[in-house]
Amino acid sequence: MLVLGIETSCDETAVALVENGRTILANRVLSQTPLHEKFGGVVPEIASRAHVESITAVIESAFDDAGLDLESSRTSIGGIAVAYRPGLVGSLLVGVTAAKCLALAWDLPLIGVDHIHAHIYAAIMAADDAHESEILPAISLVVSGGHTALYFTESWTSHLFLGGTMDDAVGEAFDKVASILGLGYPGGPAISRAAEKGDRRAVRFKASFMKKDSLDFSFSGIKTAVLYHTRGQNARRGAAILPGVSIADVSASFQEVAVSILVEKLARAMRREGARVAIVGGGVSANRRLREDLDELARKEEYRILYPPLALCTDNAAMIAGLGYWLLRDGKRDDLTLDADPVVAR
Ligand code: KG4
Ligand code: ZN
Repeated sequence: MLVLGIETSCDETAVALVENGRTILANRVLSQTPLHEKFGGVVPEIASRAHVESITAVIESAFDDAGLDLESSRTSIGGIAVAYRPGLVGSLLVGVTAAKCLALAWDLPLIGVDHIHAHIYAAIMAADDAHESEILPAISLVVSGGHTALYFTESWTSHLFLGGTMDDAVGEAFDKVASILGLGYPGGPAISRAAEKGDRRAVRFKASFMKKDSLDFSFSGIKTAVLYHTRGQNARRGAAILPGVSIADVSASFQEVAVSILVEKLARAMRREGARVAIVGGGVSANRRLREDLDELARKEEYRILYPPLALCTDNAAMIAGLGYWLLRDGKRDDLTLDADPVVAR
């Protein structure tokens, strides 16, 4: 069954066509980065306007990529899946409205998909041998620009919240630290590149692991520590970078501590739940250093870890269409009252 997926939760306008939850026929992602980079982050009002301007063209392009004719393809599609939470509400609304229009016009089932759950599914859809009975239960770690959370994954469509960030998301911390270091937006890839040339032991930023058994995260203290180290104690963002500060060393040292928190929390959750499989997803799961350290943990503890391919780490609609297929099979249907919801489900 072919599912059309739409994702507009943040600053990517994305549309995909996916067969049986696995085979990607089209996966269009139009990034708005050029519109936001001069502000050092996503400006919600600009994001929603840009989604409105491009959503129709991105839908048309996805049908072209799949070799399907938009006008006559209604009969080959089984459902319209759309990311309806969490995210920027004005951005989500554009995708939700487009999905409702298509579902109404074509008389097709509408399926609201949780964007965070879809980030987990991105790793599953890429693993050919991933069948629920072999992989589950698993612990899932979502590390993105807006979210950092651990889940106990019972099925492709059911995830119990175990812990999440108390302040900044890890991707947000990468973005803010990149801005402090003058590395531009988006910060994750920029820090990761700068860190390649740096010494990860150069600066000891203190990791916050919270209470002994806690599965919650905190990243804002490290961000402030980077600011003070780079621009002076109690400095503001605009202050000049101190002489002698190595951007590469600070990037590598920050990345090291951020990664160590993610690895430790995943290890705690795996131990506590006795799980043997970990699933990682979200934009930060593209980070090479994170993958190296998680792979090391997996080797030591004999876990299996699933990651998405790089193209499916950051926001995309293939993961929405993929998970939409399973929700449809579970009998999930939404009606035209489906609303955008900015809040993370716990
Ligand atoms: O999943 P995503 O596209 O958006 C949300 O759902 O929030 O994640 C975007 C985040 C950004 O914060 C970006 O800086 C980060 O993922 N990111 C990375 C890397 N690539 C993207 N962070 C660290 N290392 C990377 N290689
Ligand atoms: Zn995302």
